[in-house]
Amino acid sequence: MSQTTPYQPVLLRLLHGAIALLVFAALITGFMVYDRFDKRFGTLNLPIVPNTQGIHGTIALTFLVLLPLFALYCFHIGSRRLVQPQSLVQLKEFNKPIWWVSLQRLTNTIMLLSATFAVITGRMMKEEWLPSKELNHVWYIGHLISWVLMILAIAMHLLMSAKVGGFPLLISIYNWKVRSEDMPKSWFKGFKLNPSSKTLLIFEILVIGGIAIAFVLPALSPQ
Ligand code: HEM
Ligand code: HEM
Repeated sequence: MSQTTPYQPVLLRLLHGAIALLVFAALITGFMVYDRFDKRFGTLNLPIVPNTQGIHGTIALTFLVLLPLFALYCFHIGSRRLVQPQSLVQLKEFNKPIWWVSLQRLTNTIMLLSATFAVITGRMMKEEWLPSKELNHVWYIGHLISWVLMILAIAMHLLMSAKVGGFPLLISIYNWKVRSEDMPKSWFKGFKLNPSSKTLLIFEILVIGGIAIAFVLPALSPQ
């Protein structure tokens, strides 16, 4: 590892790696579902893969289960990488290095919000809608919007990380090097039960509350 490559904690690398893989898989399989049944906004006419909805549903459900764990890590261990109370003030310091850092932290936080929106709208989808050409359900439109938001957020996330730390920061999250002190028994040492700021508490309520809603809402909504 070169001197300039930042070190990312193993727990972050594991959770973030799994989340990123599942998001890309959900984006691709979600698009395949759209491309098969909808096509209103353009199509790639991809070859038909049997049971695309089932494949997407399985990947998406795994994502839903992992998302709260990743979010808890981000809010209680990795909170310095998320929005800070002074971020709004710093966002006025246009084009200064701190402006980019604040924007990067804001983008990281937006990733969590977009993922939450995707899981809520996805959970409210019904498997029968698209095959029977019911393409205007509000949850489906919301779910399509979540796909666009996710792509935009990832683009911003990558651009901001590249701007702040360059290529070394981007690849640091996929580095295999492990420091001898970074072992499972020390992974939760930095865990802070209390939110690090009021601002983050609001975002945490939105994200964790949103994920909880995604779990229970389908059971509460009428068929
Ligand atoms: C064009 C994009 C997308 C389309 C057309 C789409 C379509 C669907 C459909 C039809 C379902 C219902 C499947 C079923 O009940 O078996 C679903 C569920 C779901 N989707 Fe998507 N999706 C897209 C993108 C995404 C993305 C980007 C994510 C997350 C990152 C996501 C997360 C979910 C979740 C969490 C579920 C609920 C799974 C479950 O409860 O079994 N989707 N989606
Ligand atoms: C190829 C894809 C990706 C790359 C290269 C990447 C890169 C990175 C890097 C380098 C960091 C650390 C930033 C720092 O140390 O300041 C980071 C953090 C973060 N990433 Fe990604 N990312 C990717 C995909 C994703 C996806 C799909 C999500 C979806 C939820 C995501 C959510 C986050 C969040 C929330 C953080 C902050 C973690 C914390 O609070 O500790 N990333 N990412």
